[in-house]
Amino acid sequence: MDILLKGGHVVDPSADLDSAADVLIKGATVADVGRSLKANGAKTIDCKGRIVLPGLIDMHTHLRQPGREDEETFITGGKAALKGGFTSVLCMANTNPAVDNKSVVEYIYAESAKADLVNIYTVGAVTKGLEGKELTEIGQIFEAGAKALSDDGRPIMDAELMRCALEYAKMFGLPIISHCEDLSLSRNGVMNEGFISTKLGLKGVPRAAEIVMVVRDIELAQLTGSRVHIAHVSTKESVELIRQAKKKKINITCETCPHYFTLTEEAVSGFNTNAKVNPPLRTTDDAEAIKKGLADGTIDAIATDHAPHTEEEKDIEFDFAASGMIGLETALPLVYMELIGKKVLSWSQAAEKMSLNPAKILRLSGKGSLKPGSDADVTVFDLEIKRVVEAKDLESKSKNTPFIGKTLNGAAALTIVGGKIKFEGGVV
Ligand code: DOR
Repeated sequence: MDILLKGGHVVDPSADLDSAADVLIKGATVADVGRSLKANGAKTIDCKGRIVLPGLIDMHTHLRQPGREDEETFITGGKAALKGGFTSVLCMANTNPAVDNKSVVEYIYAESAKADLVNIYTVGAVTKGLEGKELTEIGQIFEAGAKALSDDGRPIMDAELMRCALEYAKMFGLPIISHCEDLSLSRNGVMNEGFISTKLGLKGVPRAAEIVMVVRDIELAQLTGSRVHIAHVSTKESVELIRQAKKKKINITCETCPHYFTLTEEAVSGFNTNAKVNPPLRTTDDAEAIKKGLADGTIDAIATDHAPHTEEEKDIEFDFAASGMIGLETALPLVYMELIGKKVLSWSQAAEKMSLNPAKILRLSGKGSLKPGSDADVTVFDLEIKRVVEAKDLESKSKNTPFIGKTLNGAAALTIVGGKIKFEGGVV
C-alpha cells in the first residue's frame, strides 16, 4: 500500500531539508517529498506537529542471537528497535558462537529476515572466537554481508594484529569498530576511577584505559590509511584526540551513546548495577565535552550500545554484575530532551548522527535519506507524548536500564520499514 505522510516537519540532512513537507511512499521506496502532494489513492497519515525523519540506524546493538536468546532475540530486539524509532540496526559480533565465520553471518541474515521487523545488519569479528589471536577470514565475512568488523567488548590488545586487520579490512572497504580499552589498565575495574569509586569501595577503570587505545588506533589509522571507527566514546580526552586527528585528515569516525551525555558516575551511587557499563559512566566534564564534540561534528554518530542482560546477571553484587544497558527504546527521547531541547544539536544534526552518518559509515545504500529513490524507512516522532519508563512496557526481553522511573518527553509515533508500517500508536 502506498502511503502519504502529510504535513509533518520533514528533516532530511542529505537533502538539506528542514521544513514542513509531505512524503509520498510508493511500495518500498520514497517517491516524492514536497508541499501539497496528492494522495492518488495512497493511505494518508496526518503528521502535523510531528517530526518526520529518515529511519534511524543504530550502528551498535547487541541482539544476542545466536547463543543468548534468554537476553534478547531478533524478534524482541526488533520490536524494541521499532518502538524506539529505529528502522535498521547493526548487531555486534560478541554472540555465542561469535560472528567469526561466514556461516554465522549467513545465519544472522537468514534468521533475522524471518523476524521481518527492522533491517538487521551484522558486524563480523576481527579475530577467531574474539580471542585477539588469529584473524578471521575477512574476505569471506565481507562477501557474506558483514558491514564492519569488530571484536567489541574484547579489545584487540595486540597492536601488530590490529595493524594487520586494518590492512585486510582496507581491501574490502570495511571499517573496524574499535572498543578502546587497554585491559592492562582497566583490569577488574567496575566503574570510573575517581572519588566516587573510592567512596563506594569499588575498583575503578582509569580514563587512561580508553585514551591510550584511542591514541594507538589513531596512529594505526594513519599508518594504514584504513577506516577506524571508535565505539562508545566516553572521555573528554578521546573527543579532543579525535578532533585533532580529523583536522589531520586521518580516516577516523566515532560514536557516543546517550548514557554518556545524560548520566555520570553518580548514577552508580547506591550500587545500581543498571548503571554498570563498559566503558563506564564518567564525569560532568566528560559529558559536556561529548556534547561539544557532537555539536562541532567531531562525533559522527549516536549509537545505543543496546546491551541486554537478564535479571540474574544484574541483580547481584556490583562487582559481579554484567556490564551494559539496553538503549533502543530510550535513545531518541533522550536525544530530544538532552540535545535538541537544550539547543546542543538541531534536528538536522540529530538526524545526521542517528541516520545519515551511520548509513555513510556502514555504506548502506538507499538508507539514511528521504530523497526520492531512497528506501522507504521513516521515523515519525511525536513531541507531545510523555511517558515514564517502566520495565513492564519495554519490548526488549531484558529490562536493564538505569532510566526506569524517568519521564521521557517525545516518542516515535510511527516507524515505517521498507514502505510497511511496522509500529504505530504504541503498537508493534
Ligand atoms: O557494557 C558493555 N556491554 N560494553 C560492551 O562493550 C559490551 C556490552 C555487552 O555485550 O554486554
